[in-house]
Amino acid sequence: MPPVIIALDFENREKLERFLIPFGNEKLFLKIGMELYYRTGNDLVTDLKSRGHRVFLDLKLHDIPNTVECALSNLVKLDPDYITIHASGGAEMMRRAAGAVTGTNTRLLAITILTSISEAMLRDDLRVEGNVRDMACHYACRAKDSGVHGVICSPHEAAAIREKAGADFLIVTPGIRLLEDDVNDQKRVMTPENAMALGANQLVIGRSITTKADPVSVYRSIVTSLSKGQEGSPWTSSRVC
Ligand code: C5P
Repeated sequence: MPPVIIALDFENREKLERFLIPFGNEKLFLKIGMELYYRTGNDLVTDLKSRGHRVFLDLKLHDIPNTVECALSNLVKLDPDYITIHASGGAEMMRRAAGAVTGTNTRLLAITILTSISEAMLRDDLRVEGNVRDMACHYACRAKDSGVHGVICSPHEAAAIREKAGADFLIVTPGIRLLEDDVNDQKRVMTPENAMALGANQLVIGRSITTKADPVSVYRSIVTSLSKGQEGSPWTSSRVC
C-alpha cells in the first residue's frame, strides 16, 4: 500500500490529467475531494480506478444517519478504496455509515478535527471546551466503537490516537509539509517522516507535491525517505487493509 496519498485538489479534470502525465504508468493512491468531484462526478472515480489507481473519495459526509447511510450505499458502487464521514455527525451516524460499507472493499474513515482548525478556533468558533488532542481522541474512540475502520487526524494527534485505538485502527494524516514549504491554510502541520514515526499508516499530501515544479521527483523522494525511515515499522504497508 503506497504510504503517500496525493490530494488532487485541482479545479478541473484537465489540470488533473496534466499533473498525472509525468507519472506515466505508475499506480498511485489519489484523493479526490469535493472540488473535483462536484465538477466531474462519478466518471472520474471509475476512470481512475480502471487505470489501476487507488482512490480515496474524500467527500466528508455529515448529515442525519439515514441520509449518510443512503449516500454511502450509492457511493460504494464506485468501489472507492477510502471514503470519509465527519465523526461529529455522531455515533449513530457512524454506525449506519459503517453498515453501508460492510461487505465492500471500501474502508470508512472518520474526520476527527480538520487540520485547519486551531485550538483557538475550537474554543472561539465552535465553542468546544477542551483541547484538540482530547477531542480528536474522543472522536477516534467513538468512531472505532461504531465500526469505522479508521480516522483522518493531524499528525499531532496520531500518537495519542494510536495509543487509545490500537494497532489495527487506520490512521491517515493530512497537514503534511516539507520543511521548506508554506503552511498555507493548515494550522497543525508536520513533516512526512515525523508523522509516520508518530503512528500514521499513511499520509495525505497535496500542495507539497502538486505545486512543485517536478512533482514526480518530490513524490518519489518522500516515498523513498519514508521507506528508509519506516523499515520494520508496525504501522506501515502490510498492516493497512
Ligand atoms: O495541500 P494540503 O496538503 O494542505 O492538502 C490537504 C488535503 O487533506 C486537502 O485535500 C484537505 O481537504 C484534506 N484534509 C485536511 N484535513 C483534514 C481532512 C482532510 O487537510 N482533517
